[in-house]
Amino acid sequence: METKSVEEPKKKNGQGTVLETIKITDTRTGKAFEIPIQNDTIKAIDLRQIKVKDDDFGMMTYDPAFMNTASCKSKITFIDGDLGILRYRGYPIDQLAEKKSYLEVAYLILYGELPAKTQLDEWTNHIRLHTFVHENVRRLMEAFRHDAHPMGIFVSTLAAMSTFYPEAKKVLDPEVRRKQVWRLIGKVPTIAAWAYRHSIGLPYVYPDNDLSYTENFLAMMYKVAELKYKPDPALAKALEVLFILHADHEQNCSANAMRSVGSSQVDPYCAAAGAAAALYGPLHGGANEAVLRMLDEIGSKDKVPAFVKEVKDGKGKLMGFGHRIYKNYDPRAKIIKLMADRVFEVTGKNPKLEIALELERIALQDEYFVKRKLYPNVDFYSGLIYQAMKFPVDMFPVLFAIPRMSGWLAQWEEMLMDPEQKIARPRQVYLGYDKRDLN
Ligand code: CMC
Repeated sequence: METKSVEEPKKKNGQGTVLETIKITDTRTGKAFEIPIQNDTIKAIDLRQIKVKDDDFGMMTYDPAFMNTASCKSKITFIDGDLGILRYRGYPIDQLAEKKSYLEVAYLILYGELPAKTQLDEWTNHIRLHTFVHENVRRLMEAFRHDAHPMGIFVSTLAAMSTFYPEAKKVLDPEVRRKQVWRLIGKVPTIAAWAYRHSIGLPYVYPDNDLSYTENFLAMMYKVAELKYKPDPALAKALEVLFILHADHEQNCSANAMRSVGSSQVDPYCAAAGAAAALYGPLHGGANEAVLRMLDEIGSKDKVPAFVKEVKDGKGKLMGFGHRIYKNYDPRAKIIKLMADRVFEVTGKNPKLEIALELERIALQDEYFVKRKLYPNVDFYSGLIYQAMKFPVDMFPVLFAIPRMSGWLAQWEEMLMDPEQKIARPRQVYLGYDKRDLN
């Protein structure tokens, strides 16, 4: 018998709220069950009552890769993948990108509202006070191999920071949490820039707290012998927008890692290292790096059709295309594409833009991509801008991780404060051997 939801007159619970339910009939036993619906979901645990025998474990759901499972309730970020909508705390991403700074948006994501002037001054000051790292962190970073990937250095240094702030273990203390938020957001640009300086053998540059968040990062990246490094304002602004676009994206792989690792109540440095490690992969934040390598491999515009054919023949993916949630143009990619022109005015055009535009043009009219609703995602154009701004390709995932720290921390805080959350511990469907004895 088919299991389906049944249109029933709605019932009221004790508080007079309308209860919607779904009815399930177990064809093994003929028994019917009525499961409450809340926010268009049913609780997987409500299925546990469905059993053949009393001592059965009960019904579970099977959902590899969380294709259709909400793991939390959240008030931070809203995405409508079909319509291509992204909002932080209700505000559309394009409005935030146009009118706000990254630190204002980080505050919004973390605390739910945009900061008033005094709140913003205070917040900026706290972040500024925490841009320096302990000298031993510097020494630790110096120990990496001369050509170490900066994202590897970044992930490891985040984890190592846990040993510098042992009080961070008190994750249920709001004051302690607040301080680690300032530290993590304040220090990630320093660690990121130093990871880069290390990988090219240049001395590390200490933070300049007279500069804005993005200006300071650019100064730590590129300052050489000048007394005061002044980044191009157009580039600092472009980076600000890129940071806003990357700040949060609800329950993606790294946010899920942050929540999952953090649910053991480990300190936020270790949880953030887990999240950054998840981000490093080429299917997630490593995709921007993979896009540039792909464009290099294609080489010229005339080779695009042959490359697209290879992708369709299953010989690889079109990196920077496709998304688990967006089945429409990624709204972040739209903003980045528009911004590219402003950056290229300062830096000169990235010659690979031509190949990227041709790839997009061909893919968007090819049946393979149309049928699967594969559109450019945030990573498709961001790498071209980063490269024009002289960031090496290795640094791209790190550039994603710096602003995503605010999203990870907001997700972590929300998880810790949610009375329905517990240590994350999925079930499995065991298909291995039954008991067998050694000879
Ligand atoms: N190129 C070619 N085919 C693709 C691509 C692609 N980029 N993405 C998905 N497909 C195909 C896939 O092979 C499958 O085809 P079929 O139905 O014939 O088996 C179909 O489209 C559905 O794809 P899926 O693998 O079920 O989709 P998913 O939701 O599991 O994966 C994704 C989403 C982002 C991992 C995937 O689209 C992908 O690998 N894209 C390239 C990597 C990339 O750009 N990642 C950055 C994501 S955005 C930044 C972020 O938030 O991390």
